[in-house]
Amino acid sequence: MVCVIIAAAGQGKRMGSTVNKVLLPLAGKPVLAHTIQAVCQAKAVTSIILTAAAEETEKMSMLLAELNLSIPWQVVPGGSERQYSIANALQALPPSAKIVAVHDGARPLAGPGLFDQVIEAARLYQAAVAAVPVKDTIKITDHSGWVTDTPERSTLWSVQTPQAFDRQLLASAYELAAKEGYLGTDDASLVERLGARVKVVAGSYQNMKLTTPEDLHFAETVLAKRQAAKPV
Ligand code: CTP
Ligand code: MG
Repeated sequence: MVCVIIAAAGQGKRMGSTVNKVLLPLAGKPVLAHTIQAVCQAKAVTSIILTAAAEETEKMSMLLAELNLSIPWQVVPGGSERQYSIANALQALPPSAKIVAVHDGARPLAGPGLFDQVIEAARLYQAAVAAVPVKDTIKITDHSGWVTDTPERSTLWSVQTPQAFDRQLLASAYELAAKEGYLGTDDASLVERLGARVKVVAGSYQNMKLTTPEDLHFAETVLAKRQAAKPV
């Protein structure tokens, strides 16, 4: 059984909107509705946990109910950081879940096939992340802004979600992070601290995290193109 945790308890500060960005309209429905529908179209997914800010729990539960999903779902309160939101969701996992995937509510453009690929890789390797090769040259600087190194680009990846894990491995990783007070920027970084290996699965450049207002225009364009390409 595979449970997908969808992180939606942020505030979307960089989007500069008064509403949580996952509730903003995109091609006629909330961003989050696109995300949830993509997750549910993945064949391997058997349940969903959504993390929501306390004041948005009701609104998001209604959104989920309106989607009439064929798999069970629940909404849990988020925390002040994404990592704490996911930690809360891990406490609510159904006992039958052997694989746990984590996905950003703000990534509505991930195709269902990507979930299945990352989940399959997690079955094989215990930990897997969607990622794309970086397009720019990346430089490392000191705190005064002087370049100290230029890592070889062919070894660098922009890491996305979905990220999927063996349930026990992810639970242990979150326990260790809590014990050591480590705050990571993705779930895999917590697993890496256990010494476990993480497999990269080819993601898609379209699977961007909607972060600033121009990202919404990009998403509108992608969805319009997908709609036009659908057989009538
Ligand atoms: N998220 C969450 N709990 C938090 C913070 C973020 O569940 N305490 C979720 C967001 O809702 C989002 C995903 O994690 O879907 C990725 O985070 P990010 O893009 O940083 O979203 P926000 O934190 O909402 O945006 P910002 O950082 O601009 O405020
Ligand atoms: Mg954030």
